[in-house]
Amino acid sequence: MPETLSPYPARVERLRNALPEKDALLILGEKNIRYLTGFAGSDGALMVGPDWLTLLVDGRYVTQARQEAVGAEVFEFRIRVEGIESVARRQKVGAVDFESQVLTVDEYLRLQEKLSGVTLRPLSGELQSLRAVKDEGEIGCIAEAARIASEALADVLAMVRPGVREKEIAVELEYRMQQTGAELAAFETIVASGPNAALPHATPGFRTIGPGDCVVIDYGAVSGGYHSDETCSYFVERADPRQREVYDRVKEAHDRAIRAIRAGVSCGEIDRIARTCLDEAGLGEYFSHGTGHGVGLDVHEGPRLARGREEILQAGMVVTVEPGVYLPGLWGVRIEDTVLVTDGGCRILTGSPKELTIL
Ligand code: GLY
Ligand code: MN
Ligand code: MN
Repeated sequence: MPETLSPYPARVERLRNALPEKDALLILGEKNIRYLTGFAGSDGALMVGPDWLTLLVDGRYVTQARQEAVGAEVFEFRIRVEGIESVARRQKVGAVDFESQVLTVDEYLRLQEKLSGVTLRPLSGELQSLRAVKDEGEIGCIAEAARIASEALADVLAMVRPGVREKEIAVELEYRMQQTGAELAAFETIVASGPNAALPHATPGFRTIGPGDCVVIDYGAVSGGYHSDETCSYFVERADPRQREVYDRVKEAHDRAIRAIRAGVSCGEIDRIARTCLDEAGLGEYFSHGTGHGVGLDVHEGPRLARGREEILQAGMVVTVEPGVYLPGLWGVRIEDTVLVTDGGCRILTGSPKELTIL
């Protein structure tokens, strides 16, 4: 891609923002490296100086790095820590801010030994904040991932009936998503039926779906490296009054939270709105996780929509809204959409219907 059309140099510039002359940033997270350069390999290190940018990779990735990385010199290493040392010495770096959530203690100790005289400091959340606000290209990828996923779900819904196993549906859904253009499933697809639906992160197993079950399907696709995340909950053949009541309340919590989303509102406020709706119905104790999270190159990234979070939503953030009620040993319901925050509200990117549906 010509550098002028590429989003990467501007991202690096924003990260560099007032980087002192002799400092460097050491970026190690594979998604962060991709975000800043376009290099999509699964291993490497990116060093960012005030006026230089070096992508360090091992021999497996040299060709790919030269093809994909925009604006970065490619440096081949045999041992990562030694490569970092070479670049730091060559650039006469005095301090390195490293990604403390990614560097292992082992590598940190070796780096400390190699870079004696260089100050090592943990990098705080700058990258997380940068990545939280998406540009048009990123939003397009997430919307495309969501489109592929919903289309695949529509194709497999006929399978959700008595006698079919959870795993058969999950495998078929992942197959269809990839056949329709997904690079991968966004995460291990959840198909949870009956009492398994009371586990927010159930793994699909060999349970056979029966009449009266609630079936929670939490699924997403990856397109252009970006994820979608959506959950639909269905009832099989019938829904009893309590199931309808709980479903309607979870839907109301989801709708109220979505109506409240707009630039300028805090993440904690959105969580409070969803939680209050379930509390009012005596269901608050069964809502055991946060209301949502950012989605992008990772399926879970900043910001978090959870109790007390003061971070303010900004236009361009893409977040999920996913209230749920889980009744241990019985069943559960979750309704999740991925939405784009705008100045006046939000745009829902995930397309499957969320009205109560009996299959
Ligand atoms: N699929 C994981 C989640 O909804 O957060
Ligand atoms: Mn999900
Ligand atoms: Mn989610």
